[in-house]
Amino acid sequence: MGTMVRNDDGLVRVGILGCGNVGTALVRLLDHNADLITRRSGVRIEVTRVAVQNLTKERAVAFGPGVLTNDGERVVTDPDVDVIVEMIGGVEPARSLILAALKSGKPVVTANKELLANFGEELFEVAATAGVDLLFEASVAGGIPLIRPLRESLVGERIRRVTGIVNGTTNYVLTRMTEERCTFAAAVAEAQQLGYAEPDPTADIDGFDAASKAAIIASIAFGARVVAGDVSREGIRAVTADDIGAAAELGYVVKLLAVTEEHDGAVSARVYPAMVPAAHPLASVSGSYNAVFIEGEAVGQLMLLGRGAGGGPTASALLGDLIDAAKNLHSGARGATVGTLARRRILPIDETSSQFYFSLDAADRPGVLAAIAGVTGQHGVSIQSMQQKGQGDDARLIFVTHLAREDAMAATIRTLRELDAVKRMGTVLRVVGGEE
Ligand SMILES: NC(=O)c1ccc[n+]([C@@H]2O[C@H](COP(=O)([O-])OP(=O)(O)OC[C@H]3O[C@@H](n4cnc5c(N)ncnc54)[C@H](OP(=O)(O)O)[C@@H]3O)[C@@H](O)[C@H]2O)c1
Repeated sequence: MGTMVRNDDGLVRVGILGCGNVGTALVRLLDHNADLITRRSGVRIEVTRVAVQNLTKERAVAFGPGVLTNDGERVVTDPDVDVIVEMIGGVEPARSLILAALKSGKPVVTANKELLANFGEELFEVAATAGVDLLFEASVAGGIPLIRPLRESLVGERIRRVTGIVNGTTNYVLTRMTEERCTFAAAVAEAQQLGYAEPDPTADIDGFDAASKAAIIASIAFGARVVAGDVSREGIRAVTADDIGAAAELGYVVKLLAVTEEHDGAVSARVYPAMVPAAHPLASVSGSYNAVFIEGEAVGQLMLLGRGAGGGPTASALLGDLIDAAKNLHSGARGATVGTLARRRILPIDETSSQFYFSLDAADRPGVLAAIAGVTGQHGVSIQSMQQKGQGDDARLIFVTHLAREDAMAATIRTLRELDAVKRMGTVLRVVGGEE
């Protein structure tokens, strides 16, 4: 069992691991909201130890003598620390430090998606064995309360699907491409200038960050073991201003989506750019905002919207968890547990279905449409709509299919490429939020 704090005045002492963007915002918030926190929760939170990497770095927040250290283990093992907040990021040393804290009966609050998406199961099991809280609201969609609603409010709900815009950088880039019809490279450069994109934007642009979040969402929503490597991933590099323009003409907006679903006991998790109908709630989520659209059997459709990153929003989520852990520690209670994650079949993306948009440049001559229809028909893909843009050598055909399996669509595209009449195949995008 976790140690129970018996101080009568409600004091709970916090050890912080990592004090960068998020850590600094949390320390400030704890200070600024100290009275409000005590009034509302009955606990008093004091930061007694803070680990950073570089002790000589100038800090935007000041600490008393002896608080700062560059040795995370000293924070975790300090008898004057009751709760740990981990904001270092990455796998090591965060993983070892969190495991050590949990094993010694100290609750842990973390913002670390990369760690949870790869080692979540191990951490949940150790927390359960030790009987202490492991809380991670901040790890998905920053300031948006999502993990607690999934674990508590919706714990009895049969969730069918969770579709999220969970990466602010890519949503910003796609929004700028939509509004300005600028190129992908120009939009990324602008995002970097404004601090929305890292100097190396790979983790965001290629969907790695969203895939980590999809793994965590699927684990919690479906109680299944899903790790980052189980998530099929496609980023936004191949999306062009032309695709976005064509999507707009057809009444769609292009978004990078994390889609997690349950199908007959199997779980599917995938990240890809997709066309969303303009009337869908996710279509209006623009700039660096995040949103998560939940579909449940009894609850119906539910959307949570807010800031998915940034010091303040992320610190807000961490603070809620920290107060929860502190209250539980004080009363000897425990928060909601994740429970055992079931081994479920991870549905390969080939076996999933969606609608598709695809375009091709074709010779404008009799019989071409019939040849194309022959190919789609041969693979069991049926066409919902077709448009022709331009004439003669400039003719481009734009198709939206009905629901089709990924493998059938891939085979269709392969066969279309071989047709004499097809001069060039354009981008293929899924259409999400249209047909069920
Ligand atoms: N930034 C966001 O908007 C955001 C949103 C959601 C979740 N998160 C997550 O929050 C976590 C922190 O992000 P951040 O943006 O605050 O990162 P950051 O600014 O890079 O801060 C990382 C902190 O960890 C410290 N650190 C690094 N290695 C350490 C070690 N071995 N021992 C002790 N301390 C160490 C660094 O020390 P120095 O200060 O000495 O360099 C720094 O204070 C990550 O897991 C991230 O994924 C961030």
